[in-house]
Amino acid sequence: MTAAYSLRRRLLFWLLVSTAVIGMLALADTWREAVQTSNIVSDRVLAGSALAIAERVVVAEDGTLEVDIPYVALEMLTSAAQDRVFYRVDGPPGTFITGYQALPVLKETQGDTAAFADDVFRGEPIRVATLRRSASTGIRSVPFVVTVAETTIARRQLAQAILVRSALRLAFMIAGAAIIVWISVTVALRPLYKLGDAIGERNPDDLHPIEQSVPSEVQPLVDTVNSFMVRLQSALNALRNFTGNASHQLRTPLTIIRTQLALSARAGSLDEAQQAALKGDQAVAHAERILAQLLLMAKIDAATAKEALAASAIDLTAIAQEITAEQIPRAGEAGIDLGFEGEGPATIRAEPLLIGEMLRNLAGNAIAYAGKGAEVTVRIVEDAETVRLEVEDNGPGIPPEKLEAVRKRFSRGNDSGAPGAGLGLPIVEEIANLFNARLTLLPGRGGRGLKASVTFNRAT
Ligand SMILES: Nc1ncnc2c1ncn2[C@@H]1O[C@H](COP(=O)(O)OP(=O)(O)O)[C@@H](O)[C@H]1O
Ligand SMILES: [Mg+2]
Repeated sequence: MTAAYSLRRRLLFWLLVSTAVIGMLALADTWREAVQTSNIVSDRVLAGSALAIAERVVVAEDGTLEVDIPYVALEMLTSAAQDRVFYRVDGPPGTFITGYQALPVLKETQGDTAAFADDVFRGEPIRVATLRRSASTGIRSVPFVVTVAETTIARRQLAQAILVRSALRLAFMIAGAAIIVWISVTVALRPLYKLGDAIGERNPDDLHPIEQSVPSEVQPLVDTVNSFMVRLQSALNALRNFTGNASHQLRTPLTIIRTQLALSARAGSLDEAQQAALKGDQAVAHAERILAQLLLMAKIDAATAKEALAASAIDLTAIAQEITAEQIPRAGEAGIDLGFEGEGPATIRAEPLLIGEMLRNLAGNAIAYAGKGAEVTVRIVEDAETVRLEVEDNGPGIPPEKLEAVRKRFSRGNDSGAPGAGLGLPIVEEIANLFNARLTLLPGRGGRGLKASVTFNRAT
């Protein structure tokens, strides 16, 4: 499995994207503020020179206005950069006194303070300040307008300088943060690498819990792995146990076959040889049966709960009736009276082949162990929520203290002349578990024999 992505790269990516977005917004704001600041500063100078001009406006003897432009006032404007300065002075509406006649005049002014606006003059962006005053002769006052304008090169340069400085500061911050993230991710991931190394160095069959100290965020993962290893260990033990038992169970019939083959090879008569061949054949049948049961068990183990839940609804009565009928000849040979009780469909959710196998094992046990002349009944009992499959016999039964033990794999009763490997009841129980059903083993009616019941939930 290849890594889906790198934590380090992902963190860095999001850090850079978010700081870039925030940085852009901050720079836009800085730009706005820088323009405002430089305007405030330069506007003050612009208003100052308009005021200086206004102070030089006087009323001549003939009643017209005269102005003696104080060039120093304009000089202080141009000193900043290569900016060019323009001015005009106008008398009462309609009378132009001096300066650049094409220069725009601001219409809106408030009281005697200057008004400012951005405009264009001779194809260049300018800042205009207009000041309205009046000159007094003592008898009457004559209104006039002073307009001063300046190209905006110096202002733009100032704003740009502010912007570049902030951008540089921001770039340094982003770079610094990226380096910090890079280093801290490396440091933070170190325990994980150590953990990986510790697991990597283990023997394949070393399943003891991981004791490495890890960050608290990683502890749940370690706990999960640990509990998984515990389960794995017990599954492994069970498997070892199972294969040990299984090979032991198979070795017995194989030894018998071998012995019988040797016997028949040395047989003095045809009769003796036939006898040995018959015994060998029985041992083969036994081995076959064990193998079939082992395979069935493996199949049940492999079946997942999900598959079992997806099982379709089946009629247990019909299946039980069919399997019982199939067992009648065997029961007859063993001198057993096999009967069936149950009517009407009883639906459960299960896999029909496995249910057949389950019943074959239960009926097979009753036929094998109940003894000649016994009665065996296969029964379907229904109530509101459950459907119960019962196999009851009136044979010797199982002593109460052994009822638990016979459910275990490979455990058999001591009498058992019957062929088997002690896997029948465990198979029944595992099939039952697979379909959410429960196996109970109780003495039969009147305390005689055995009643094995499997209780299913009724399918809705
Ligand atoms: N109906 C029964 N009556 C008496 N004993 C039984 C009955 N069913 C099972 N047993 C006992 O339980 C043991 C385990 O049964 P099972 O798991 O089917 O394995 P196997 O039949 O291969 O021995 C049997 O060996 C037998 O001693
Ligand atoms: Mg059996």
